[in-house]
Amino acid sequence: MKRTEIKKLNVEYEKFAGKQIKVCGWARTVRDSKMIAFVELNDGAFKGTQVVLEKEKISNFDYVIKLTTGSSLEVIGEVVLTPQAKQPYEINASQVNILGKCDTDYPLQKKGHSLEFLREHHYLRPRTNTFNAVFRIRSVAAYAIHKFFQERDFVYCHTPIITASDCEGAGAMFQVTTLDLNRFADSGKVEYDKDFFGRKVFMTVSGQIDEEPMTHAFGNTYTFGPTFRAENSNTSRHAAEFWMMEPEMCFTDLAGLMENEEEMIKFVISYVMEHCKDEIEFLNKFVDKDLISRLTNVVSNDFVKLSYTEAIDILTKVKDKFEYPVYWGVDLQSEHERYLTEVVYKKPVFLYNYPKDIKAFYMRLNEDGKTVAAVDLLVPGIGELIGGSQREERYDLLTSRMKELGLNLEDYENYINLRRYGTNVHSGYGLGFERLIMYLTGITNIRDVEYCPRTVGGIN
Ligand code: 4AD
Ligand code: MG
Repeated sequence: MKRTEIKKLNVEYEKFAGKQIKVCGWARTVRDSKMIAFVELNDGAFKGTQVVLEKEKISNFDYVIKLTTGSSLEVIGEVVLTPQAKQPYEINASQVNILGKCDTDYPLQKKGHSLEFLREHHYLRPRTNTFNAVFRIRSVAAYAIHKFFQERDFVYCHTPIITASDCEGAGAMFQVTTLDLNRFADSGKVEYDKDFFGRKVFMTVSGQIDEEPMTHAFGNTYTFGPTFRAENSNTSRHAAEFWMMEPEMCFTDLAGLMENEEEMIKFVISYVMEHCKDEIEFLNKFVDKDLISRLTNVVSNDFVKLSYTEAIDILTKVKDKFEYPVYWGVDLQSEHERYLTEVVYKKPVFLYNYPKDIKAFYMRLNEDGKTVAAVDLLVPGIGELIGGSQREERYDLLTSRMKELGLNLEDYENYINLRRYGTNVHSGYGLGFERLIMYLTGITNIRDVEYCPRTVGGIN
């Protein structure tokens, strides 16, 4: 007999009424009295199914009821509708085959563990309700992102992970080498010409620079993949390995960029709310009581658009509130960003036109000569969710800015050449995918939205 998946059964149980079926899964709970037992069985669907075992029908009844949470079973039985009960149907078993017993040292024997405890058993935590919900939402959100861009005819491009250039101009990067580092410990001299690529290379901090040539061929592109940052930021919002999604659009200015960002965020939230109803309801109940109202609010309201200069005006009027001082030219700290989104506006805020000195070399210089056409999307509870800008498309301005910052122009030859071969007004942004998942789930630590978190000082 072919296995029926529990998710299908949970939706179409009426069609299965009175029929014999086979289900497989792991026992979540086993409750028994002398003559009857109930097993909650789960095969990965968010909601499991209830299996009823009657002693007189099940030959190995006494053995089965001794099984513990985590054991894997195959059950053959009849689907019985139970309109009076909490669940609308149950499976009345005629046969139970034990596929894999679960040893008694199984860390998830009991329910209700803390997120910190579960982090120590990260490979098992997807079996819990919370992580089942988080990782399902992560998968559906990734699909929604692809759907959004594919429906708008953007070309998905795969930029390299190993790179010779530092996209952000000043980012801390992981180096990639096959050299035996021990050999250099004493001599101090590293012969990069003998390294794998014959030069010093790194893991990418962003796909943007390699993506732009593709954008200048297709018009609209996006990347979506792993990104690496070796910053020593041990916070709940920074990971050393995370996923970034970077759309890039030709013939598009800053206003067009913001429009795309807002549409994309609203699309992904709506898609997840529609396709992960059970998961969102669960998280709203157990993780963040404001989740549904917050997400609904985001989808149905316009985002705020605020210039950096206006933000500084607002923030300097707030006395004795911040640890870090506020003045025009300062790189805003997360306490400032959070004040704007959580206290002043209580919704997502586009902050644009930042001082050029605190932003990357590729951002387009504004008429005032002091600010660049950059925009960050700040959201309550997270801070910066997206960073982006209109790109400097003018050859002279781009190269002079790069020289000013001491960048080696040869490393960026292709990028610069795009300004000679059909340059145009273009823009792009980078979305931190883990931060989006935190926003979608109410989870407050980035370590709990990555299956194997890579953060400073530890790996598992
Ligand atoms: O603002 P960032 O550094 O922008 C870029 O990398 C641009 N090249 C993007 C572009 O215009 N194509 O990073 C983009 C986003 C941030 O807004 C943040 O959400 C996320 O990536 N991010 C991180 N997420 C987790 N851990 C980290 N260490 C992160 N650093 C950035
Ligand atoms: Mg940024």
